[in-house]
Amino acid sequence: MKDLTTKKKEKYQRLFLQLEDLLKKTNDITSRMATISAVLHHKMDGFLWTGFYLIRQGKLLVGPYQGPVACQELKHNTGVCWAGINQKKIMIVPDVHKFPGHIACDGRSNSEIVVPVKNSNGDIIGVLDIDSRDFDHFDEVDGEYLEKIVSLIHKN
Ligand code: SME
Repeated sequence: MKDLTTKKKEKYQRLFLQLEDLLKKTNDITSRMATISAVLHHKMDGFLWTGFYLIRQGKLLVGPYQGPVACQELKHNTGVCWAGINQKKIMIVPDVHKFPGHIACDGRSNSEIVVPVKNSNGDIIGVLDIDSRDFDHFDEVDGEYLEKIVSLIHKN
């Protein structure tokens, strides 16, 4: 019997290859982010909300996403998404209710992962944000594969 971590890695690897193929069709970053959100949201288990927040003139605004209607703008330097941008790192939050300043767009969310999205110069342009109803849903394996997946957004 394969353990859950191995199964999750294999699933992410399959989705990575599928996305790599799908994203070849255009280099438009909005189309690519929309495709990534849809594939992850519908193929991974336990994703309540899957999408992007993008920096636009100093504001953090919602981009392509799947799931319940979300906040359009996140209050400056508040919550998990801004923390990922400011600290330039993946944020894994096992219990969002314990995260200072967490912004609850949907009361059903209990854990969250935020992965910075960089452009081809390495500047952070936003984040991939995923919420789950389960506590402690995300770990380093999610971080590792989601980082590989978001790197496809700017791949030639
Ligand atoms: N929880 C996020 C806000 C976005 S929603 O999760 C979709 C945050 O604290 O930044």
